[in-house]
Amino acid sequence: MKARTQGKVKHLIDTIDFTKEELLSLFETIRMLKEFDMQGAVPKILKGATLAMIFEEPSTRTRVSFETAMTDLGGHALYLKPGEIHFGSHEAIKDTARILSSMCHGIMFRTKEHEGILKLCEYATIPVFNAMTYYNHPTQGICDFFTMSEHLPEGKSLDDIHVVFVGDSREDTGIMSKETGHMCAALGLRYTVCSPEKYSMSKEEQKKIRDKMKLTGGTLTVTDQVEEAVADADFIVPDVWTYYGYEEEEADRMANFMPRYQLNMDMLNRAPEHCKALHCLPANREVEITSEVLDHPTRSIVFQEAENRLHTQRGLLAWYLYPRMREADQTLVRYNEGKLRSFLDTRLK
Ligand code: CP
Repeated sequence: MKARTQGKVKHLIDTIDFTKEELLSLFETIRMLKEFDMQGAVPKILKGATLAMIFEEPSTRTRVSFETAMTDLGGHALYLKPGEIHFGSHEAIKDTARILSSMCHGIMFRTKEHEGILKLCEYATIPVFNAMTYYNHPTQGICDFFTMSEHLPEGKSLDDIHVVFVGDSREDTGIMSKETGHMCAALGLRYTVCSPEKYSMSKEEQKKIRDKMKLTGGTLTVTDQVEEAVADADFIVPDVWTYYGYEEEEADRMANFMPRYQLNMDMLNRAPEHCKALHCLPANREVEITSEVLDHPTRSIVFQEAENRLHTQRGLLAWYLYPRMREADQTLVRYNEGKLRSFLDTRLK
C-alpha cells in the first residue's frame, strides 16, 4: 500500500446504503465546493492523487466531470478504455484491482453488469466509484437530489417533495427508475414510479425500496396511470426508452411508451406550476422528452442538473478520497530531495 494513503476503504456502490444524515452531509460538501468553484478558489485537497477511470460503456458527462473534478482538487485522472488495457480480455479483475490499488488512490468504473462492480470492490483496496451499471447510477442519483434541493418548491423542504419517475423501470434496464427509488428510500421521500405494465418495476426491486422506506418513512407507489401520477409531482424524472444493446426492442418500446409516457408540455401542464423536469442526459429529443420541455426556461432544470455532475463529483472525490490522503512531511520531502540530488549529481556526471 502507498505510504501516503491510510484508513478504512469505503466504496460507492448503491445510494440505498446511505443514511439520510450521510446524504445531507454529502449535499453540504457538494454545496460548499460549488461555492468555492464560483469564487474560483477550489482547495487542492487531493494533490498528488490519481483516479483510474475504466469505461466499458460510452460517457460524456461522467467522464468529463470526474476528470475535471480531479484536476480542480489538485489530482489527476487516467482514462482507461477496454482494448487499451488488459482488463476484460487478458487480465482477471482481481489482478487489475490489485495493480490499480497499488498505484492509484481511487477507481471509477462504468460497466453493464452490476456483478462487475461488486467483484472489483471485493479485490480493490482503494475506494471504487460505481459510475453506472445497468442496475443503478449512484453518482447521478446524488447529483439529481442535490439539484432538487437547490430548486425546492416555495414553502417545501426536501422532506416534503413528491418525485415521479416516468418511463422504463424494467429490472434489466430502467436504471434511473431504480436509482431515483434508492435515493427516495434513503432520504425517506414520497416516490411514484410510472411505467407501462410491460416495463414496470420488479417485485424484488419494490421490496428493496419499501424495506428501506420502512426505516426512513418514505412511500413507494407503482402505477401505469401517468396522468394521476404527475398531478401533484414536484419533480418529474424521465430516462431514455432504449439502451445500448437493446436496439432490437426499440419498436416495441416505442409502441408501449409513445405518446402517453413522453414528457411533453401536456404532461408538464398536468403537474403543479412549480413542478420541474429533470433528465440525466443524453436525451433523445422528441422521444422520451420534447425540446419544448428540455429547453424550457423555468420548468426544466436539466442543464443545471448536468452542470451539477461536476460539483457532485468534486464532493464525492473529497468525501471518499480526502480522508485517506496523508499529508507529506515537508521537512522530509526537502531532505529527500537533497539526498536524491546528491546521489544523481555524483552518479550522472
Ligand atoms: N448521465 C450520464 O451518466 O451521462 P454520460 O453517459 O454522458 O456519462
